[in-house]
Amino acid sequence: MAHVIKTQEDYLAVYKQSIENPETFWAGVAEGFTWKKKWDKVVEWNFNEAEAKWFTGGKLNITENCIDRHLATKANQTALIWEPNKPTDEARKITYQQLHDEVCKVGNMLKAHGVKKGDRVCIYMPMVPEAAYAILGCARIGAVHSVVFAGFSAGSLSDRINDSGCKIVLTTDGAYRGDKTINLKAIVDEALQRSPGVVKVIVSAHLQSKPAMQQGRDFSWEEEMSKVPAQCEAEEMDAEDLLFILYTSGSTGKPKGMVHTTAGYMVYTNYTFKTAFQYREGQVYWCTADVGWVTGHSYILYGPLSAGATSVMFEGIPSWPDWGRFWQAIERHKVNIFYTAPTAIRSLQQAPLSFIEKYDLSSLQVLGSVGEPINEEAWNWYNEHIGRNNCPIIDTWWQTETGGFMISPIANVTKLKPAFASFPLPGVQPAIMNEAGEELTGNNVEGRLTIKFPWPAMARTIYGDHQRFKDTYFSTFPGKYFTGDGSKRDDEGYYRITGRVDDIIIVSGHNLGTAEIENAINEHSSVVESAVVGYPHDIKGQAVYAFVICYEMPKEADKLRAEIKEMVSKIIGPIAKPDKIQFVSGLPKTRSGKIMRRILRKVAEGETSNLGDTTTLLDPNIVEEIKAGAIK
Ligand code: PRX
Repeated sequence: MAHVIKTQEDYLAVYKQSIENPETFWAGVAEGFTWKKKWDKVVEWNFNEAEAKWFTGGKLNITENCIDRHLATKANQTALIWEPNKPTDEARKITYQQLHDEVCKVGNMLKAHGVKKGDRVCIYMPMVPEAAYAILGCARIGAVHSVVFAGFSAGSLSDRINDSGCKIVLTTDGAYRGDKTINLKAIVDEALQRSPGVVKVIVSAHLQSKPAMQQGRDFSWEEEMSKVPAQCEAEEMDAEDLLFILYTSGSTGKPKGMVHTTAGYMVYTNYTFKTAFQYREGQVYWCTADVGWVTGHSYILYGPLSAGATSVMFEGIPSWPDWGRFWQAIERHKVNIFYTAPTAIRSLQQAPLSFIEKYDLSSLQVLGSVGEPINEEAWNWYNEHIGRNNCPIIDTWWQTETGGFMISPIANVTKLKPAFASFPLPGVQPAIMNEAGEELTGNNVEGRLTIKFPWPAMARTIYGDHQRFKDTYFSTFPGKYFTGDGSKRDDEGYYRITGRVDDIIIVSGHNLGTAEIENAINEHSSVVESAVVGYPHDIKGQAVYAFVICYEMPKEADKLRAEIKEMVSKIIGPIAKPDKIQFVSGLPKTRSGKIMRRILRKVAEGETSNLGDTTTLLDPNIVEEIKAGAIK
């Protein structure tokens, strides 16, 4: 039974039911899908062991739910609209039938290259339709996709390939990004020098750049696809079989391969997509994220496609050829629901309004935001200039680990408050905790955000390291999932996410672990040690500030800064490059050798007077030096 929510009273009633009787609630949500065999048990869980299983005993294939079941009525409806980088190139409309055929062909192509159910497949592709076919093609045959964002470096790609044990990589010759091209195949070649386990690479000719191909290892996507039929039976998957691995930054250096499984993820992404946006048949929906991130997985592909929607995939960037690019594409495709990130909104806000006024945005009905807290100014600008005070802004709080929206307004139901993600969706049970580990009940509280009951799309583990999963998410507050975020609940019960409380910083909506950036900086031969913190940035939300100790104070500081940035870019990717690098002779450490990041954060934020207690430092004088040399 679908839960109809038209008013706040409906929301409250459904929410109450979802908490009082979660099994009945989730069974109702899961009913409307194509199951090869229905589940035996809705949920089994034990947060003390970091375990949860959903819809156990159920058998299904997610691609049948995203594609085949729509064919009877929607074979000719557009499933994906691909808007290319260059506005003068033609957009591609892919119907559900065409999507079916391409996905089946990928499934067959992978099988022909020896890929079997359970094998991991690395996808390193830009925002092209082939990336969607690749992802769904894996799911078709029960292979586990591990998409690596195409902005990551060879080193990051290789680490991810090795961690998940991929034997095959799907890529393109390259990518367009504004007026630049990126040679992805060369990055793959470099990565594979450190990933000997990969025996096959299939390369789609997006740029037609004819890259060097290694005989016996590298194959042309187009040639291989032309050899296989457009019918491929959907593999029967267990509800808890792995669907994908997706890496996210961790507080310690190594990225975490978050594992998502089949049925719970499908049910939840579909449910949250339809509920939060109040998606209606026939609407055109555009999520501007990249498929390399969880937002692209859940809300360009699985959520909207399982709902039979038309989903836009955009290859380009908001600023090229000019700041009107998003608005032009909204007009062109008559987009009804537009979902983007605060960092994009803030950068677009800087441009003259004439870039917006040129275009007809009257098709817009619902707006969304994701990735970091949206500040009030950006919220108001988005509301006034893009929503014309007429579109609810759905500020969705969630994580790679949660798989789907957790706390979010419901379009045209929730009374909005700028910068508040508002209320938990039905089925989601947040708890705000104090540092002593007690739940703060009632309103007007602030603390650490946890979730105390499982939800279907929660990550099941970290690939190959369940102990790390348990330690990271289930040990800070035993029996509860700890999000790593801080949150307030105001006098009316609205949640406002206040940001990360761990060593993760969110730069332009991308999660970065400070330890990972430090490790990259420390690779430079002149560097002894470094400490990285975030500081507020008008457009990026947060930016990266690095305090770096060298063997000797650099004589050519700017040259060394450029080299360090290049090093980080090479090891992790351009997104992680420090914005500011301050060379220091020491770091503020306690007697036990722990860096007091609180002090560094304050300096990076431009605060020099009130640094708090520094008496426990090994060498309090270092603080004076750091303050004096702070980069404005
Ligand atoms: O700090 C929260 C922030 O992004 C983190 C999750 O990042 P990631 O796993 O990369 O997933 C991004 C897409 C969901 C969260 O821990 N975050 C995400 N959405 C919001 C947010 N912070 C505030 N408000 C949001 N709407």
